[in-house]
Amino acid sequence: MDFENIIVENTEGIATITFNRPKALNALNSALLEEVSQALDGVAANEDIRVLVLTGAGDKAFVAGADIKELASLNALQAKRFAQKGQAVINKIAALPIPVIAAVNGYALGGGTEMALACDFIYAADSANMGLPETTLGLIPGFGGTQRLSRLIGPNRAKELIYTGKIIPAIEAQALGLINQICGADFLMDAVMKTARTMAAKGKVSLRAAKEAVNSGLDTDLTTGLKIEQDAFAICMVSEDAAEGTRAFIEKRSPVFKGRLS
Ligand code: CAA
Repeated sequence: MDFENIIVENTEGIATITFNRPKALNALNSALLEEVSQALDGVAANEDIRVLVLTGAGDKAFVAGADIKELASLNALQAKRFAQKGQAVINKIAALPIPVIAAVNGYALGGGTEMALACDFIYAADSANMGLPETTLGLIPGFGGTQRLSRLIGPNRAKELIYTGKIIPAIEAQALGLINQICGADFLMDAVMKTARTMAAKGKVSLRAAKEAVNSGLDTDLTTGLKIEQDAFAICMVSEDAAEGTRAFIEKRSPVFKGRLS
């Protein structure tokens, strides 16, 4: 499929969606959001894709937020629809059964940080900056930031970032637990792809089960979460991957996973 605002690539089972409006620092307008939504449907439908990576075109931005020029003229109803649309796309990222890495190569502000928060984890360039600066615009985050940031780093730290609209460098975002790994800008994609390949080589059933167990468990109490883990563990145990993985250990060789969902 041809897209105008994103680039979609797929190599060795690792798909990459690149936000591609570098002149507007990859800001999220309606057209880009619609294309991301379609691309995510394609990723979800393709069982050969094992890992998804999100990044931004150019060397300056991952995504500098929702498109302020498009936002500026919205009335309340239109603003609500815009937030619903953005949240629906970002929820699609969070709901993908495969691991998703955000490769934050520059500014990730507002909707950019919200996009990254929906990924399983974030690697960032040392030159990256993150934040939810919407209060500076007289707004608040509308693509999930008030909810996902507070769940990830705690309400007190999230509130400070949201109330002040402060834009923080990668090193500070890492200290807050927002970023897993910081790399020199030129090495970011290498580091992301190395981790993506490591994950892609694991059992397909176990990766999906692990993601489902962590995410579903976070939405519930510990007792229910542990029960979810038991069920997910049992599903893995009867998979072809588990038979191969345990046999390979006993035979002192590396496992060869066939990548089937059975
Ligand atoms: N929307 C639309 N255009 C944007 C944009 C955005 N979010 N961010 C940057 N751009 C555009 C600029 O208007 C500029 O375009 P022109 O050349 O046509 O003027 C171009 O990208 C380059 O930007 P700057 O000249 O501003 O670059 P800079 O290096 O001086 O500053 C920046 C970089 C600090 C990221 C600055 O661009 C900035 O503050 N951007 C806005 C960040 C922001 O407030 N994001 C939150 C948006 S609201 C939101 O996201 C709500 C939500 O929760 C969904």
